[in-house]
Amino acid sequence: MTTEIRWGVVGPGRIAEQVVEDFSVVNGARAVAVASRSLDRARDFASRHGLERSYGSYAEVIADPEVDVLYVATPHPQHAAIARAAIEAGKALLVEKSFTATSAGAIEVVDLARQHGVFVMEAMWTRFQPAVVALRELIADGAIGKVRSVQADLGVQREFDPEDRLFSHELGGGALLDLGVYVVSFAQMLLGSPDTVSAVGSQFPTGVDAEASLLLGYADGRSAALMTSLRNALPGQARVFGTQGWIDVLPRFHHPQTFVLHRGDAEPETISRPQLGSGYAHELFEVTECLQAGRTESTVMPLADTLAVQAVLQQAAEQLGVHHAEAPVDL
Ligand SMILES: NC(=O)c1ccc[n+]([C@@H]2O[C@H](COP(=O)([O-])OP(=O)(O)OC[C@H]3O[C@@H](n4cnc5c(N)ncnc54)[C@H](OP(=O)(O)O)[C@@H]3O)[C@@H](O)[C@H]2O)c1
Repeated sequence: MTTEIRWGVVGPGRIAEQVVEDFSVVNGARAVAVASRSLDRARDFASRHGLERSYGSYAEVIADPEVDVLYVATPHPQHAAIARAAIEAGKALLVEKSFTATSAGAIEVVDLARQHGVFVMEAMWTRFQPAVVALRELIADGAIGKVRSVQADLGVQREFDPEDRLFSHELGGGALLDLGVYVVSFAQMLLGSPDTVSAVGSQFPTGVDAEASLLLGYADGRSAALMTSLRNALPGQARVFGTQGWIDVLPRFHHPQTFVLHRGDAEPETISRPQLGSGYAHELFEVTECLQAGRTESTVMPLADTLAVQAVLQQAAEQLGVHHAEAPVDL
């Protein structure tokens, strides 16, 4: 019989509300506990989602021996401190994107996870979408020849509010860490780590990036042209260009259900792959299966890729004059 994997939620905010609903379609996994900085918020979340235990501090869920893995859904600068404490306690982790606020923070977490042999994965749900799995398989089979370039954009128009996580410097706001991570991760998945990064963009008055265009360059001439914005909406489209065709990933490419394959001169093929639940179930499956198999890393979202993505985000932020920092967390 396969062991049931028991999950704890850390930081019951907007995304945790959605992700926790997808446990209903994940065999072998159950959300059992939630921790908030406020016991009332934890209790409220637990009662609405049918969780057994609520904690008023993150330390308590980290110490709960009946929890196998934590889903960390706090703002980005809080991820690293929580992850380090959890790894020291031997708890496996699924950490929301962006994995950390800085490249150095990501390296520290990954080094510690490897040292302790504890499973850690970035919650980059895009990589687990059935349509993205199908796209990777087709590309590996040579459907568009050799991939030469990627285009992707993801942006939303949000009214500036300095208190909101999205705009607050202290909470790791800005387009790059919130949405840019998707375009960078998509390009990294298909092209690997770039040799050069060039970023152009602007800032909000809080000192976080409002919009950015990124050009990733590879020594052999491959490239990625990427855009992200919190200032204006962007379609959320991605295109992958190969030597023998291209693929249009229809909006929104970060959780797509349909893409169009253009093989050479052939008629375009529309390929659809529905997602389960709200699309978060697939990453929950991956972690659950990895833990049941005793793995310490996912091969679909490996830590090396997370580090490569964080390095690009760091370089782009620096070029835009944005300086993020990891935050201490009162556990
Ligand atoms: N995969 C996706 O589709 C997706 C979508 C949206 C966001 N995200 C990611 O998920 C993370 C959280 O985003 P969100 O939109 O859910 O944020 P949110 O609504 O602001 O919730 C974050 C939660 O973190 C906790 N927290 C801990 N320290 C905090 C601090 N200093 N300030 C504010 N909150 C703090 C809070 O819960 P307590 O105080 O109750 O502990 C809060 O409810 C981010 O990393 C984001 O990029 C992923």
